[in-house]
Amino acid sequence: MDFEVRRDDLHACRFVEGAAHALDPGQALLEVDSFGLTTNNITYAVFGEAMSYWSFFPAEDGWGRVPVWGFANVAAAGDTDLPEGSRAFGYFPPSSELVVVPERIDERGFVDASPHRASLPSAYNSYALVDALPLYEKRFEEQQMLLWPLFFTSFLIDDFLGGEDLFGAGTAIVSSASSKTALSAAFLLARREGVGVVGLTSPNRVQFVEDLGVYDHVVGYPDVPSLPAAPAVYVDIAGDSAVRSAVHGHFGDELRHSAVVGATHWEAPADESGEALPGPQPEFFFAPDHVRRRSADWGREELDRRVAEAWKPFVEWAGGWLKIKRGKGPDAVQSAYLELLDGRTNPAVGHVLSL
Ligand SMILES: NC(=O)c1ccc[n+]([C@@H]2O[C@H](COP(=O)([O-])OP(=O)(O)OC[C@H]3O[C@@H](n4cnc5c(N)ncnc54)[C@H](OP(=O)(O)O)[C@@H]3O)[C@@H](O)[C@H]2O)c1
Repeated sequence: MDFEVRRDDLHACRFVEGAAHALDPGQALLEVDSFGLTTNNITYAVFGEAMSYWSFFPAEDGWGRVPVWGFANVAAAGDTDLPEGSRAFGYFPPSSELVVVPERIDERGFVDASPHRASLPSAYNSYALVDALPLYEKRFEEQQMLLWPLFFTSFLIDDFLGGEDLFGAGTAIVSSASSKTALSAAFLLARREGVGVVGLTSPNRVQFVEDLGVYDHVVGYPDVPSLPAAPAVYVDIAGDSAVRSAVHGHFGDELRHSAVVGATHWEAPADESGEALPGPQPEFFFAPDHVRRRSADWGREELDRRVAEAWKPFVEWAGGWLKIKRGKGPDAVQSAYLELLDGRTNPAVGHVLSL
């Protein structure tokens, strides 16, 4: 069964039952066990066309399958060397099954070499077998599917900003401060000597964000002008042009770098004024590019080791406040998706779903 959404109307959803097919030579069948759903997946849908997110898991014309992160079991290895019954972590369709063409198989995992995925960023085509995955702990499976891809991005943001010495600034301002990506970034940035972390969030979420204790200071979006206009970098996870203008307008040249990371406020009106913002022009931060850069610097194994080391204290901390909401079957998947699409999800909740 597949969960599909209309590419031109993300509120229109349907479930499609596919017919069972025999595996072709070189193919293996994975049974998708469960997956996490957060606003990150909504952003995949919003940028489905522009960033090719629809291309990973094709659907009928006009429809798309929003990629998700989760776990699957190898149900049939076909003529491949994939160990049947092994458990894989990675990028899946919101479906009950996925047929892959596993290549570069070793004890750590494999790559899906399906022809339609060949031109897509390789970071999304690799699957890790959990038995050899350093960060994997059975008790944190749900946290892993919800938080790991976001934490990984935030690790790279923290590494990037730290490597640049925060562009000479002492403060990192993070928007959509209640999001899991922002909280991961704040958790890591707060550990850096001499770095203050300021969270920007919706007024009704200020208290929740403050109580988590990872930001030095939290303000609602309307209160940006109350911040001291000292040298700062902006990590923009909301992607809201009005908030971005307020930050750039208030900090001006004191803003030393402006990184566009997310677009949680996907329905906020775009800035069509065509005017350049005060301060540095925003630069898009695309995690796979930084994975490639750090893999070249350190080697992929060393990168994975460093992220796994940073992950452990984070997941212990997040395990203390993240409330897992489990759902099974089409209704649960659709209602969690629509709740996230409309921004109605309590940020303390993480949806773990299964078809
Ligand atoms: N560039 C990359 O490589 C990369 C990698 C990972 C994630 N990201 C991006 O980071 C962002 C955060 O993802 P996440 O999964 O961490 O989010 P999340 O935890 O689900 O975030 C929830 C928060 O996002 C805001 N929000 C969500 N939907 C909204 C809506 N419809 N309208 C207004 N606000 C809404 C609210 O925060 P506030 O009230 O605090 O604004 C809400 O509390 C996504 O856009 C994601 O794509 C980018």
